[in-house]
Amino acid sequence: MSDTPTSYRKKFDLAGRNAIVTGAVGILGKRFCNGLAEFGANIAVVDLDQSNAATFADELNKTHRVKAIGLGCDITDPASVAATVRATVEAFGEINILHNNVGGKTPDRDKFFASFETYSLEEWRRVMAVNIDGVFLVDQAVGAQMVKQAKGGSIIHTASIYGVMAPDQRIYEGSEYEGRGINSPAVYSASKAAVVGLTKYLATYWADKKIRVNCITPGGVESGQNETFKRKYGARVPLGRMAYGEEMVNALVWLASDASSYVTGQNLMIDGGLSAW
Ligand SMILES: NC(=O)c1ccc[n+]([C@@H]2O[C@H](COP(=O)([O-])OP(=O)(O)OC[C@H]3O[C@@H](n4cnc5c(N)ncnc54)[C@H](O)[C@@H]3O)[C@@H](O)[C@H]2O)c1
Repeated sequence: MSDTPTSYRKKFDLAGRNAIVTGAVGILGKRFCNGLAEFGANIAVVDLDQSNAATFADELNKTHRVKAIGLGCDITDPASVAATVRATVEAFGEINILHNNVGGKTPDRDKFFASFETYSLEEWRRVMAVNIDGVFLVDQAVGAQMVKQAKGGSIIHTASIYGVMAPDQRIYEGSEYEGRGINSPAVYSASKAAVVGLTKYLATYWADKKIRVNCITPGGVESGQNETFKRKYGARVPLGRMAYGEEMVNALVWLASDASSYVTGQNLMIDGGLSAW
């Protein structure tokens, strides 16, 4: 890296880079993988859902002519994470990019959406186990590999708007998703705020190893919420609507690539301006 004249377009090029994406077959994960692969990166498609991961890796292979492998992994299990890193290194030789993207809701929606007063410690821990403990385990395993390689790297976390600001509780009346009422529980905010904190810590911790660590923070993404929710949420947003999933992707490509070579420890808000009021 130097200050000589260069092609700015080329800095976005990810050809020959190897990436791990976790939560890779979710609503945003597939889009993230497609974005990185379109810019040339080989992708380890990592998800709890092994069969979808394998199918989607085949699709990436065919569509983008990159190497893609599908790996089943539970990011809350250190042995599973270690096996995933081993398999990726075996397939690609080294790891240059980690998109530590897993997060979200647990399967038991009644427990996940319970009121704060009745929220069980068990469910609180279940969410934390994925959203922050799992992110820690994957950072630790992939980061150690990057340190060993001594070539630097780029790590990107996915946090959430509600890790930075509180939800406006008024928008949930009459709002539905998957046929039921919704809210955003406190544990989601607490876990995502922790992801932002971990981003900043690791950015300084690994700076001397030339490993950059950044975070993207999506606002609410349209994915089947009812009209009431979309209208109420959109009314709170300067750009007047929810996000589309694809609007998250170019920020990831930028942070993964040399185009952001002097950027580390940042949390990029992709929220239609919601946090700017
Ligand atoms: N969709 C949104 O509106 C939104 C908004 C803000 C932030 N985010 C964040 O963006 C990221 C992606 O969200 P999404 O909407 O694509 O979520 P999603 O629920 O569609 O996908 C999550 C994926 O993670 C996988 N997963 C769950 N637990 C796992 C585990 N223990 N080990 C490995 N994989 C596991 C699931 O199988 C799934 O494929 C999450 O961190 C989420 O919190 C999403």
